[in-house]
Amino acid sequence: MQKNFEYIGVVEDVGINGEGIIKQDGLVVFVPFSYLGEKIKYKVLKTDKKFAYGKVIEVLSPSSNRVKPICDAYFKCGGCSLQHISYKEQLVFKQNLVKNAFKKVANIDFKVECVEPSDNEFRYRNKLQLPISYDKGENHIGFYAQNSHRVIPIYDCPINPVWTKNIISVFHDYIKINDLKGYSEGENYDLREVTVREVNGKLIIVVVFKNKKDRNTQSLIDILDSKLDCEYSLFFNYNDSTSNVIYGEEFRLVKGEPSYSSELLGVKFKMGVLSFMQVNDNVCEKLYSYVVGKISNDIDTVIDAYSGAGLMTALLSKNAKRAYGIEIIKEAVDSANALARFNGLDKKISNLLGKCEEIMPDLIDKVSKEGSVSVVLDPPRKGCDKKVIDALLKARPNEIVYVSCMPSTLARDVGLLTGTLTYENEKIEKGNGEGEYEIKSIKPFDMFPQTKHVETVCHLVRK
Ligand SMILES: C[S@@+](CC[C@H](N)C(=O)[O-])C[C@H]1O[C@@H](n2cnc3c(N)ncnc32)[C@H](O)[C@@H]1O
Repeated sequence: MQKNFEYIGVVEDVGINGEGIIKQDGLVVFVPFSYLGEKIKYKVLKTDKKFAYGKVIEVLSPSSNRVKPICDAYFKCGGCSLQHISYKEQLVFKQNLVKNAFKKVANIDFKVECVEPSDNEFRYRNKLQLPISYDKGENHIGFYAQNSHRVIPIYDCPINPVWTKNIISVFHDYIKINDLKGYSEGENYDLREVTVREVNGKLIIVVVFKNKKDRNTQSLIDILDSKLDCEYSLFFNYNDSTSNVIYGEEFRLVKGEPSYSSELLGVKFKMGVLSFMQVNDNVCEKLYSYVVGKISNDIDTVIDAYSGAGLMTALLSKNAKRAYGIEIIKEAVDSANALARFNGLDKKISNLLGKCEEIMPDLIDKVSKEGSVSVVLDPPRKGCDKKVIDALLKARPNEIVYVSCMPSTLARDVGLLTGTLTYENEKIEKGNGEGEYEIKSIKPFDMFPQTKHVETVCHLVRK
């Protein structure tokens, strides 16, 4: 197989990024935007010993699941990768993705339930993040291209709310009127990012500037007032670093309220600039209800590990006499404490600030001696630290509900809890399957339609 040559092949499988997989000339070829069963003409862009990477030139026989993407920027933007597949088939793809991760990573062959769909296939996000760059004399507002920091200009985004196009247009006008420059590595610039979060129909807008120099704040407020028809708050943030971190340390409230109140499943909360919130309100409700439904009633203690701003801890506390949240970010713990007070649950809930790997071993040891314990885990993509898994295997709580946005690390940790995997000399090896836990259910949730991402809940009970 040679670079820049065209080939014809049939897609035999779909990879974890939603790309078609063709086996040809002894190589495994990954071709984005092709789908299972399709015969395609593709051009080889890159090869190495075992793999090649291609680009679709023509779909010769399209899959019956293929649909026309509704976004003009779909093939350039790195945000979505499944818009060319019908929504029904996206759910099938994600169910298989989770099933295969359990098989491949942990040698677990367990029924994965149907993916819980999002009520909205589009316009479901409550959080928009727009980098602004300056390239060859032009400012670009949009999203990053796949695996790159090149900004693809965008004028609307169908998975983000309808106000997205107004926000983009506001910033084009503001930049033009004041002759400002977006981020360009190694060069002087004025602003680099705009983030917007919708809470209960109101917007929290943050503009990240390089420094505190005044850049005609009033003109920005005037344009926002003329183009938005909802209440909003405006923050300025300052970030002069060369790293990928979006925000600098300081936020300045320029207009509006510092946070907005909302309610989810009967729990009242306040959302500010830094609090973590799931991006899809509808699926978030379904996910939280499902998790709470899996936890037994009348337990003594529930531990919500990786608890964020404490919404789930508050919901879980209704099933238990006592609830603990563990979270590493101070602002999130402060929000969780405020949320507990706001809902009259502060006597029942303790929100602990720190790393789960440091807090969990002693905490679970202590509460296990006092009565029954259920644990919810919702770690970031890298999954749980070994110390957290070891603490669970030692204390053996009644049940564990593991929520994850990364099927491979979920499968690894579930493998360790069920014994299909084990640690040998600090390395993960195949186990005998006779672990402390057994799987009761695996259920994916489509928190992120049109993208390759999936949220999964695995319910484990002590054998
Ligand atoms: C996927 S979020 C889940 C948040 C929460 N359960 C929710 O649904 O809103 C993961 C959370 O874990 C926190 N986190 C990351 N590493 C951690 C660690 N080692 N110990 C405790 N919390 C951690 C993050 O700050 C983040 O809030």
